[in-house]
Amino acid sequence: MRLFHAAFAVAVILGHAQFTTRPLHAQAHAQAAVPSKPAEEVFKNIVQLKGMPADQLMPAMQFMSSSLGVECAFCHVAGKMELDDKGAKKTAREMMAMQAAINKESFHGQLQVTCFSCHRGAQRPVNTPPVLDSDAPAHAAPPPMAPPASTVTADQIVEKYLTALGGADAIGKVTSRVMKGAILVGGSETPIELFTKAPNKRVSISNGQSYTAFDGAAGWMGNTGKPAREMSATEADAAGLDAEFSLALRLKEIFPQLRRGRPETIAGVECETLNGSRPGRPPVRLYFDKNSGLLVRMVRYAETPVGRNATQIDYADYREMDGVKSPWRWTLSRTNGRFTIQVKEATNNVAIEDAKFAKPDGELK
Ligand code: HEC
Ligand code: HEC
Repeated sequence: MRLFHAAFAVAVILGHAQFTTRPLHAQAHAQAAVPSKPAEEVFKNIVQLKGMPADQLMPAMQFMSSSLGVECAFCHVAGKMELDDKGAKKTAREMMAMQAAINKESFHGQLQVTCFSCHRGAQRPVNTPPVLDSDAPAHAAPPPMAPPASTVTADQIVEKYLTALGGADAIGKVTSRVMKGAILVGGSETPIELFTKAPNKRVSISNGQSYTAFDGAAGWMGNTGKPAREMSATEADAAGLDAEFSLALRLKEIFPQLRRGRPETIAGVECETLNGSRPGRPPVRLYFDKNSGLLVRMVRYAETPVGRNATQIDYADYREMDGVKSPWRWTLSRTNGRFTIQVKEATNNVAIEDAKFAKPDGELK
């Protein structure tokens, strides 16, 4: 328990304290979000995760499930999550304490070793390297340790991205966009409408009834006929990034530190990478097509006391409108699911009232 408080303190440092050094828009995200109660005040049987904000419980459970490649029922009695009847739940508590101890003793209290480091998606970690299953050479040539001799700087990557999109001037002239399209999940298609406005307002409505919105400061979601619910700080942080109307123009403002990372290849496309960091927030990694300069992937993280959950967004189908390119298709992937949005129609510079993005007081109509 004591150890878990240490791990929680790390989570606070990394993601959830209200630092005044944050860029203004990030502070707005955090302040607008509902302050979360400690998990033990909301749930019935919290031993290890005491002190953790209650809204991190589900992300932490998701992290453990995907780390072990199991469903909730592996540790829980369905419908009675508070019961300790399953051995695996008790083991999981011991594992949390062990993980916190390893990180404290060996990694200066940083969350370096997690469930996934050992489990790699399996219930039982493997502790013996596998034998060869073919007589092909066991190891390919080792990857070069240093990034290849290239003098590209983070600033140049951002410049190339801006130019690829149409240039800062053209980008600045488009200040809102309304899109219609479809959400594709496992072969089924649901209609979606997206209203977006610079610098960072966005509301998406799927099937005419399910809302996800960011009003420039806070996020909310809900379904028609019910009151909307305000997003947690973590959810709002992600929704705020998604709502960035012209990320290219605001990259340096959002990420006070933007560093070039090791180049990587995604599906055969050579990419330059940038690591963006913001005080008190998990990092964001951006991948740009080396040839076109366009953003092809963003990976962002959500902090939990047991480890970070990644969200990956792959951008594709860039099309030009009013001299500015934007992706017409993007796929959002998480450990527990993924979906693709395909835009079919878009109109720029439509007047959208700010009220469109505001959380309604009563039921969603
Ligand atoms: C590897 C085991 C494991 C898996 C998988 C797991 N949990 Fe848990 N869960 C735990 C442990 C351990 C606790 C208690 C944490 C503590 O003591 O602080 C817990 C606590 C909870 C609680 C709080 C119950 C209460 O009232 O005290 C809920 C709710 C919960 N889990 C939901 C889920 C859901 C939903 C999933 C699937 C997405 C899931 N868990 C997957 C181990 C697991
Ligand atoms: C340092 C490595 C390591 C870390 C970190 C780790 N585990 Fe484990 N875990 C193991 C090993 C090794 C076993 C298997 C022990 C055995 O076979 O008896 C195991 C077993 C388990 C089991 C029992 C599985 C079964 O089939 O009964 C659960 C549940 C579990 N771990 C959950 C977790 C959770 C949740 C986390 C993160 C909070 C975690 N572990 C972190 C090494 C680790």
